[in-house]
Amino acid sequence: MNLYSRSIPSLQGVLTVPGDKSISHRAAILGGLADGVTEVDNFLCSEDCLNTLRAMEQLGARVEVLESREGCGPVRFRITGVAMRPHSPSRPIDCGNSGTGMRLLAGMLAACPFDSEMFGDASLSSRPMGRIMSPLEQMGARIEARGSKPGCAPLFIHAGHVRPISYTLPMASAQVKSAILLAGMFAEGTTTVIQPAVTRDHTERLFRHFGVSCSVDGLAVSTEGPALPRAHDLTVPADISSAAFWMVAAATRPGSRLTLRQVGLNETRCAVISALRRMGAHMDIVKTSPEDAGEPYGDITIYGAGSLHGTALLPEEIPNLIDEIPILAVAGALSDGDLVVRNARELRVKETDRIATTAANLRAMGATVEEFDDGMIVRGGTALKGAELPSYGDHRIAMSFLVAGFSASGETVLTDAGCINTSYPGFDRDLSQFLP
Ligand code: S3P
Repeated sequence: MNLYSRSIPSLQGVLTVPGDKSISHRAAILGGLADGVTEVDNFLCSEDCLNTLRAMEQLGARVEVLESREGCGPVRFRITGVAMRPHSPSRPIDCGNSGTGMRLLAGMLAACPFDSEMFGDASLSSRPMGRIMSPLEQMGARIEARGSKPGCAPLFIHAGHVRPISYTLPMASAQVKSAILLAGMFAEGTTTVIQPAVTRDHTERLFRHFGVSCSVDGLAVSTEGPALPRAHDLTVPADISSAAFWMVAAATRPGSRLTLRQVGLNETRCAVISALRRMGAHMDIVKTSPEDAGEPYGDITIYGAGSLHGTALLPEEIPNLIDEIPILAVAGALSDGDLVVRNARELRVKETDRIATTAANLRAMGATVEEFDDGMIVRGGTALKGAELPSYGDHRIAMSFLVAGFSASGETVLTDAGCINTSYPGFDRDLSQFLP
């Protein structure tokens, strides 16, 4: 599927982007493991998250659809959990394109008394799984990476029993942290993960929501097992990573006034707002969640003014805005300065090597980009021209460059844009509402 965009004067209106991807994966897993019935509202009905929900069904959870949204899919589910006793799956588990799904499920499966197998698409089959295998093996799990690329999926997980560990993460990864904590729910004693920097803390928040012990001491996160999560309804806020495309779209089109509703405002995910404000973006934020909400959320209004300026992303911001770097790079190209991204080597092992794919598409639109092993400098101040660009099968690359097309001459075409469904079903409809 190809998607098109072109120069538009400004963006006006109100938009509600779909539910948060990270929280939806975790809600499926914890709801599926819980004792009792959990209703999850505003679940992200993307291929990635639905795969995780199906995986939990294969493991014995009962999943009923309570509501579907037109042009999107099922968004409200009733999940009857297995009370920490997953069933042996009758066939291999398909994780599609999702690193989060595969890595988090691996943490849980490593502790189960049956063999299991997980596989994914070509992109997922080339992403590193050693980062979860190593700590899970230290916990006693036996995992084989059977992919043609060493250390990659398909993963074969032998029936196992896990013991608690204290593990220092070699990289700032919420997926690895969460895989270990999920295994730790099955282990007897205290499992601790020490992070090199703060990473998104949705697992910790959902643990508390489901009554699972979770303590945080600086960069160390601990859980006490064995745990029995208690079913507890929840509503997933809109995904700030999806909202980020519209933040940049509105901030780079003078005269825009766009409100994004009920966006997740978890502070481990909000650095994209700080970075855009440093670049000169005008945004009002009204928190609308109750004080005791497990995940805060609110409405963000973005006003397009003059040109954005350059900035350097701070090292401690990188894990917080790692998924927003392609769209921030587009903002950098449209600014009158330089966007400096360093300490972001992790970008090379996302759905694509996002330093290479972002740089290639920016250059194809006429921008100047200097690439480093751990980042890039995007030079602003050059008018972008429309181009036919590949998505490389990466949802965030596809959406970033459709937004770039709003500020480029001529037409921008994103080929193979179907991948957008992995995180933002309905993006094409939202996009078309702004095009003439
Ligand atoms: C995620 C963590 C991040 C992020 C991914 C979702 C999560 O990956 O890029 O899109 O839900 O835990 P890493 O943990 O590999 O940094």
